[in-house]
Amino acid sequence: TTVEWEAASYDMGGHDTYMHKEIHEQADAVDRVLRGRIDDRFSTVHLGGLNLDAREARRIRRVKILGCGTSYHAGMIGAQMIEELARIPADAEPASEFRYRNAVVDPDTLYIAVSQSGETYDVLAAVQELKRKGARVLGVVNVVGSAIAREADGGIYVHAGPEVCVVSTKCFTNTTVAFALLALHLGRTRDLSVRDGKRIIEGLRKLPAQISEILKQEELVRELAEEYAESRSMLFIGRVRGYPVAREASLKLKEITYIHAEAYPASELKHGPLALIEPALPTVAIVPDDDLLEKNRAALEEIKARSGKILAVAHQEQEKADRTIVVPKNEDELDPILMGIPLQLLAYHAAKVLGRDIDKPRNLAKSVTVE
Ligand code: AGP
Repeated sequence: TTVEWEAASYDMGGHDTYMHKEIHEQADAVDRVLRGRIDDRFSTVHLGGLNLDAREARRIRRVKILGCGTSYHAGMIGAQMIEELARIPADAEPASEFRYRNAVVDPDTLYIAVSQSGETYDVLAAVQELKRKGARVLGVVNVVGSAIAREADGGIYVHAGPEVCVVSTKCFTNTTVAFALLALHLGRTRDLSVRDGKRIIEGLRKLPAQISEILKQEELVRELAEEYAESRSMLFIGRVRGYPVAREASLKLKEITYIHAEAYPASELKHGPLALIEPALPTVAIVPDDDLLEKNRAALEEIKARSGKILAVAHQEQEKADRTIVVPKNEDELDPILMGIPLQLLAYHAAKVLGRDIDKPRNLAKSVTVE
């Protein structure tokens, strides 16, 4: 399906920036990426443009996801979903690194190029290099008919709609949902049960309403942003599903506030970054209510014991955190889609306090079409 975009979608519609508008468009955008794709009869999804039949899908031995910046982070989440739901080994790598390292290209690996614009040169070059070596490459792309979409053997359009702000928000969210669809589809051609298929579909259907619920907390997040905008540096931590969420939140903050931010797996704290902890370095912790909850709570305790200030994004109040932003719970595998959304708002409001040019941060371009 193609979605036509009228000039009206470029109107700011009462928002002060495109970023703010695009953050608030996410419930509708997610609704669009799901539309017409769910197949309740077989508890799976239809992805018309994949060009991958069931026999081919079953032959995939590995999945390698390539993208840059925010799209790479969405790909990290996608890799975890594919591994969890389809039990195919999967990982993500920056396309900009991949293309320079003479990678071993394996015919049984499915390569997936992720890009909002579909024009990022590093991603396009990686796709061309892969195709030259005979690989099958799918695109997970927003802009219809873009260079990467044309070059790929098939793929999924993420239907986020036009994204004008240089920093990506709604496209990130829609890309993670597109990966959930792909993971479900691959899972159901393999060993994912009907019951789990149904569970994921129910979770997907809940997303738009849950996004709206999160965005209703904007006033709380704005107050927090006033406090955090004074920081010189911030640490973002998460474990497994929470780690790419932490990476993306840290990128968002540094892109538009110019506050230094660093993301770390929570499990790596004791291997170095714990040395940084002091009251002036706040930590933002992603704490999903999953089987790693206790491990994550232990990390919060370690930080608290060193007088570190903590903001948690969690499914329930965290006792060790100074403040918690509570987000609605979905299925464990789908939680990463939602947990970063309040942190888009945190970055936005902190940038506003600092008077930054939010839609056009210094030194950055919307699509990087040069080497
Ligand atoms: C996103 O906030 C960034 N401006 C940037 O990292 C971006 O995601 C990256 O350049 C990739 O762009 P693409 O998705 O259009 O390929």
